[in-house]
This record gives sequence, C-alpha cells and structure tokens, in this order.
Amino acid sequence: MTETPVEAPLGMLIELTHRCPLHCPYCSNPVELVSRARELTGAQWIDVLTQARELGVVQMHFSGGEPLARSDLPELIAHARQLGAYVNLVTSGVGLTVERARLLAERGVDHIQLSMQDADSRNADLIAGARVHAVKLRAAEAITAAGLPLTVNVVLHRTNIDRVERIVDLAVGLGADRVELANTQYYGWGLRNRAALLPTAVQLDAAREAVQRARVKYADGPELVYVVADYFADRPKPCMDGWGRLQLTVTPEGNVLPCPAASAITTLPVENVLLRPLAEIWYLSKTFNAYRGTAWMREPCRSCPERFTDFGGCRCQAFQFTGDAAATDPACGLSPHRPLVDAALTETAEPAFTMRAQAAP
Ligand code: SF4
Ligand code: FES
Repeated sequence: MTETPVEAPLGMLIELTHRCPLHCPYCSNPVELVSRARELTGAQWIDVLTQARELGVVQMHFSGGEPLARSDLPELIAHARQLGAYVNLVTSGVGLTVERARLLAERGVDHIQLSMQDADSRNADLIAGARVHAVKLRAAEAITAAGLPLTVNVVLHRTNIDRVERIVDLAVGLGADRVELANTQYYGWGLRNRAALLPTAVQLDAAREAVQRARVKYADGPELVYVVADYFADRPKPCMDGWGRLQLTVTPEGNVLPCPAASAITTLPVENVLLRPLAEIWYLSKTFNAYRGTAWMREPCRSCPERFTDFGGCRCQAFQFTGDAAATDPACGLSPHRPLVDAALTETAEPAFTMRAQAAP
C-alpha cells in the first residue's frame, strides 16, 4: 500500500494557558509549565486561529490549563466562531458563573466539556487539590441553563474507579448529554504520579462491569464513552488517530505539536507559530512528518496488518519507555519492550501524589 497524501487537519487543541486553579495529579500538561509572561497575546492567538481555519481546521478545542483564566476568552471564541469553526470549551468549571456561561454561549461556544474528579465530594476535592466540587456542580447548572450541550469528563484512577456507577449517576443528574470516563493516560504529571494512580487489574475488571450496568441503566442516553487503560490491554490505542494526520496542538507560548504530550519527545525540533506559518509546520516540518503514515515503522509494526488502524500506537509512550519515539508502542503485546509496561504495572505506591504545580506569573 502506498502512503496517502497529507490532508488538512480537522481539529486543533488550543492550550491557551497553563494557569489553572486545580492541581490534579493526573494532569497531562508538561511538568515544565509555561509562565503567564510567555503566553501568546490575544492578537497572536487571533492570528493562530485565522491561520488554522485557512489551513482547514474545523474543530477548535479551547483548553489549558484553565482557559477561563484568560480574560480574552470570549473574544477568542467569537473569532473562532466567525471563522466558521465548531467551538468546544474544555474547562474545570471554576469561574464559570451563570453570566459567564451565557456570555460564552452568545459569543459562539457550541459545546462545553466539564471535568469532574469524583462522585464523592471529599475525594473529588482531594484530587483537585482545592475545594471545588460544589463549584463544579454549579458550573454544570450554568452550562445547561445557558442551553449548551454538556459533556462530563472524569479521569479514572485508583482512588475513584470503584465509584463508576455513582459517577455516571452524578453526570446524568447534572444533565450531561455525554459522559466520558477516561482511564488516566500517563503523560506529564500523570506519568510522574503513575505508581499512585494505576488501578489494580481487579479494579479495572469491576469498572468494566460497572460501565456495562450503567449502559443498560441509561440505555436511552446520555452517550457513555469509556476509554480503556492501554497499559492493561494487549494492543495499543490509535493515538491521535495517527501522528500528524487529523489534529494539532498549540501550546500557550505558540509551540505547535502533533499531540499534547509531544514536547516530551526531546529528539524532535520545536516548531513555533511565531517563527513559521502554521501551514508550513503542518505540511513541511520534520516534527510533523517524522511519524506520519507507515513508512517510518520498523518491525514488528512494519509488516503488521494492524498498522493502518492503530498507527503503531503512541509515539510519546514509545519515547518514554525506550528513548526511541520510532519504536513500537510498548503497550503492544507484540513489542519486544512490552516487559517494561508489565514492570510498570507492578510499581504501586500509596496515593501520596505530587500535585500539579502552578504556572509562574
Ligand atoms: Fe499495532 Fe505495531 Fe502492535 Fe501491530 S505491532 S498491533 S501495528 S503497535
Ligand atoms: Fe503523543 Fe500519543 S500522546 S503520540
């Protein structure tokens, strides 16, 4: 099979800021957070959004950190909407009052994804590192009152995965149109806290069954998405639906990445939108072309029939485990490095987390 030509990206993750009022130990932001002083200005973000739309991006995901920490968020959202993009806001909900939710809806937000930490308020606040659970419940009300579709997203780990059904009940009670239960991905702060976050195999089995029961209980909706834990699977996730294929990420200081965690791959050149046009970075840069398609693959991926559907798994995970981003994802049972993942599964620690730090001013 020949390589398919590079197509325009579909979606862009816009990491407006690394500032955040929460301290979740599973945060996938890099351990080296970008300071407020290094963030792109509003005018620079407007230019990035315009370039992205010209490039073909149709889904713009405003994220962070906490995007509400940017006072110019309504203007940026309005610009994205004027460009004709679908606008998604990914938020902790802290600071999302009724008035603010209404304003964002007026400016053109199409959908809001609200993170919750747990159905148990005490543990939720412990995981967030702040007393925010009650604030989030009010934010959910503000979102639905503004007439906006709501996705409730909960990252699962050892200290909350036993409450899957209660979590789904909570999300349904909040009026969620979609519930995402995502097992922790081990990047950034999540990687640092891996031994304290990893659930046991017994917990995972119970969670799978709990999800099945919830699907039966809520057969008429909302949509329930369960993202599996790839460390425990025999095949890797099709990370990003392929490197440089559908998505790009722009970090608070304007670095352009094929995935949110790719800054951890220290062997790749850093591309920045202040130094090079977005289209040139997407189509021509070494970073975006490094792992596109299948030609870069080695065995066992090179001759594996799965390579067109899982794209060899995750480049960031391959780099974390082996120091070589072109290696087969060690989460794959066919990888010679799979014993490294199995060894990680045996490393457990008490949940004494290193909480996510604050971005510097
Ligand atoms: Fe996917 Fe490569 Fe594993 Fe095959 S060998 S299943 S392509 S990661
Ligand atoms: Fe970067 Fe998977 S997280 S490629």
